[in-house]
Amino acid sequence: MNRPPTSLNQLHQVIADWYVTFGRDLPWRKSNDPYKILVSEIMLQQTQVARVIPKYEAFLNAFPTLPLLAEASVSDVIKIWSGMGYNNRAVRLHKLARFVVNELNNQLPCTAEELIKLPGVGPYTAAAIACFAFGSSDPVLDTNIYRVLSRIFHGTTPPSKKVINILAAEVIPARSTVSASHWSQALMDIGSSFCSIRRPACRECPAKSYCSAAPDLENPKDLSLAAKSSPSIPKKSKFIGSARYYRGKIIDILIGTGDQGSRVENLYVLLGNPAINIPQLLNGLESDGLIKQVNGFVYLP
Ligand code: ADE
Repeated sequence: MNRPPTSLNQLHQVIADWYVTFGRDLPWRKSNDPYKILVSEIMLQQTQVARVIPKYEAFLNAFPTLPLLAEASVSDVIKIWSGMGYNNRAVRLHKLARFVVNELNNQLPCTAEELIKLPGVGPYTAAAIACFAFGSSDPVLDTNIYRVLSRIFHGTTPPSKKVINILAAEVIPARSTVSASHWSQALMDIGSSFCSIRRPACRECPAKSYCSAAPDLENPKDLSLAAKSSPSIPKKSKFIGSARYYRGKIIDILIGTGDQGSRVENLYVLLGNPAINIPQLLNGLESDGLIKQVNGFVYLP
């Protein structure tokens, strides 16, 4: 630690006070229903907050409870999900709902330890549900929190993920002080509102006077310092023309054709004969449970 906070308690309090007044008013924060938190967290895994909000609301209108989601057909779930990309998340969520209804008597487990045993639930989602829905003190470590903690406690030299994992658990507020859920969601907001990867707005950040990186990032001599101080900047690969792009297009086409499905040859035409291996793409979609192929036709499942 370059410049430890004078008091971790003070930092907790400053951040919690800031969150109560300025934290983002996001729909999934209005509830601690574990199902709603689960839906939001799966959506937020690979999609930005602004794009998730309308989809989250539409999804919960269509499938207001876990049993209603489990009862729905997978194609109806894909239809509501589509437009957000990574449609296999919809299939995963639907499978998970069926598992919880059939095997767990409709009850999502309440600890991260149990949640992580569910099909399709990783450590991040398990911790987020345990913390946001059930009030546990599990550290919720997404990329924003990772960057904020790294800069506050380690300045402009990000430590390893292992070190941040340990740190994230150590700096969770004690139960009797600040809510762990507020702490983690506040750090997410600070990460997205101020502590950006390339242009951090330290001057406006509530954690500024506790942050080891702020003195260097406020008036950087080296403009690339902010980016260097961000743990693992994800490289954005080109989306248009990628396999993911065509996977999404195929699902959109099949939503349009309804029960009739589409002939495989028609897909080539509708996709503009791309230089991409369509049979391989279709096999991938089928093995992810997103489509079915029957006698030269393709359908939603
Ligand atoms: N990303 C993942 N979970 C989130 C949450 N609860 N609030 C804002 N962004 C998030």
